[in-house]
Amino acid sequence: MKITVVGAGKYGSTTVQRLAEAKIADEVVMTDIVEGLPQGLALDMMQSRSIEGFETRITGTNSYEDTAGSDVCVVTAGLPRKPGMSRMDLLEVNAKIIRDVATKFAAGSPNAVVIVVSNPLDEMTYLFREATGFPAERVMGQAGMLDTARFKHFVAEDLGVSPLEVEAITLGSHGETMVPVPSQVRVAGKPLTVVADSATIEKLVQKTRDGGAEIVGLLKTGSAYYAPSSAAAAMVEAIAGDTNEVMPVCAWMTGQYGISDVYLGAPAKLGRRGVEEVVELPLDDAEITALKAAAESVRSKCADLANLQG
Ligand code: LAC
Repeated sequence: MKITVVGAGKYGSTTVQRLAEAKIADEVVMTDIVEGLPQGLALDMMQSRSIEGFETRITGTNSYEDTAGSDVCVVTAGLPRKPGMSRMDLLEVNAKIIRDVATKFAAGSPNAVVIVVSNPLDEMTYLFREATGFPAERVMGQAGMLDTARFKHFVAEDLGVSPLEVEAITLGSHGETMVPVPSQVRVAGKPLTVVADSATIEKLVQKTRDGGAEIVGLLKTGSAYYAPSSAAAAMVEAIAGDTNEVMPVCAWMTGQYGISDVYLGAPAKLGRRGVEEVVELPLDDAEITALKAAAESVRSKCADLANLQG
């Protein structure tokens, strides 16, 4: 198993570390345009192997040649937000970077399954697929795992339970039209709608939507990477291990929830072929309406991307 992570920033390098320590790959390649950065980080991580007890090789490189033959790839390339910016403010600058990465990576790894994490997430996932012509099920985005983890965190903190006792899911876009799904939340087995009032639920939903921005505001430079890299690594593990686990991911929709031909956050079964199936949950009418609104918002931004290109 060969895994590539594009981008050796905080998100990329933390993902590499998590994947190496998960012992699922023979080699994890980390590539970046900054000379010395991926090499230095790789050397540092390689020197942790005898302590952490893993044998995975970590290669740092500035060249896509070293990524050839990858089975799975995580794309973290692009700029993160600054305080006050929305993810959408990164559309134009990151579109150029993603197009370039997509073309160079795909040349050496035409059969890879790709997870995009660059922002704006849904649009960059679409763009990577457009630029490579890969089958849609082999290109997906990471957002729902992270947004779901944030939702679970806020529910657990507010209700005073362990995050491990919270079941939840977050769908829609990784942005303004994110759709945390209260009807699907269980707290120690009980529906959230029974153990919390609607004002509390609305507050938790809004905190989840603002979860990334809150961290950007505190850090002042860069965005979150511990929970994001956990989310990306969990998806890679499901794909590499062909586990068929259902995870919320940004997937190409083919009629599920009445939505087609757009990348959108939805629950999906992950395996060696990528998205094996988009799963339909019994959502309530308001949640379906919100999901459709998210789909139309992503669709219109993807149309803007086509105009930018021209
Ligand atoms: C976040 C960025 C990574 O939500 O999109 O933290």
